[in-house]
Amino acid sequence: TESKLQQVHKHIRAFPDFPKKGIMFRDICPILKDPAALTAVIDLFEDHVRKNHLQVDLIVGLDARGFLFGPLLAQRLDVGFVLVRKKGKLPGNTVTVEYDLEYGKAEAEIQEDAVAPGQTILLIDDLLATGGTLYAACELMKKQQAEVLGCMVVIELKELNGRDKLKPHNVFSLVQY
Ligand code: PRP
Ligand code: HPA
Repeated sequence: TESKLQQVHKHIRAFPDFPKKGIMFRDICPILKDPAALTAVIDLFEDHVRKNHLQVDLIVGLDARGFLFGPLLAQRLDVGFVLVRKKGKLPGNTVTVEYDLEYGKAEAEIQEDAVAPGQTILLIDDLLATGGTLYAACELMKKQQAEVLGCMVVIELKELNGRDKLKPHNVFSLVQY
């Protein structure tokens, strides 16, 4: 497990002052470019689910980089994958929640029939910063009466305390800064 974590860590790059001054942007693109590193990410997520005996019905991934990891994990677990998208991207009846961004607001959306009441789900994204995005996804799940078993991210930015914002939901992260 240690070497898989090291492999993931090795494939994350930092770009200072992107997308604006003062932000240290953590870039996961090298993970996607390296099959062994990507496999390590999915192995570690799968291990977490199995070790904790999480009985998960669906993996729910966040727009856009949650879509890179979510379906791979869902296939490993032999469960389906559901998309939480930014507003206006999904056809049919949808459920929407508003959430705060650094400046202004955004809206997250799922299809009304994506999750059924009582289904157990795990949320997945590339990175936890303030937690606003994952919190919005939790709200969508609550509206649909789905049970959130936890949140999984590749990267956690600790100083932003996203983990606290998501309480009482559990957060599992592979790499912390
Ligand atoms: C980034 C990241 C997370 C979110 C984390 O996505 O991929 O989804 O921000 O920030 P938070 O914890 O403060 O909510 P972004 O909104 O940049 O969208 P993108 O994935 O479409 O680029
Ligand atoms: N990297 C990628 N996405 C992000 C970051 C970051 O450092 N901060 C907020 N969203």
